[in-house]
Amino acid sequence: MDASEPVTDKQRSKLLEAACEIRDEAYAPYSRYPVGAAVLAEDGRIFTGVNVENAVYGLGICAEVSAIVTAASNGVRRILAVAVCTSNIGSPCGACRQVISEFADDIPVWLSDGKGTVRETSMHLLLPDQFGPDHLPPIV
Ligand code: THU
Repeated sequence: MDASEPVTDKQRSKLLEAACEIRDEAYAPYSRYPVGAAVLAEDGRIFTGVNVENAVYGLGICAEVSAIVTAASNGVRRILAVAVCTSNIGSPCGACRQVISEFADDIPVWLSDGKGTVRETSMHLLLPDQFGPDHLPPIV
């Protein structure tokens, strides 16, 4: 599949399921706000991540960043959809939006509460007018 093909209902369900399942592995002893994220790669693979906090609070890593780093480490360069699972349909933070945008066009982002409620948004809605490679000088 490629970016021109819409994500199927089955893929959407699998992505949401993956995000909510991995949320159990979140390491969030300080905030007690576990987050699970899953990204769908162009080749159909799904990669997941959780938030990993640290006693040095500022070093905590968000679930979306974990998922993107895992995907990129496995060769993924474009993603077709993102799912995020929290207790209350939390939306990706600003830093996560920028990190996702490096690998995504205006893709769907599904936000789940893990109990059946899902809100759909999109990268363009979450991060309009983002900074991207076109803003950088050409590499010589
Ligand atoms: N968190 C995420 O994992 N993703 C977001 O987009 C927002 C916040 C995490 C960071 C921290 O571990 C906890 O949620 C509370 O902010």
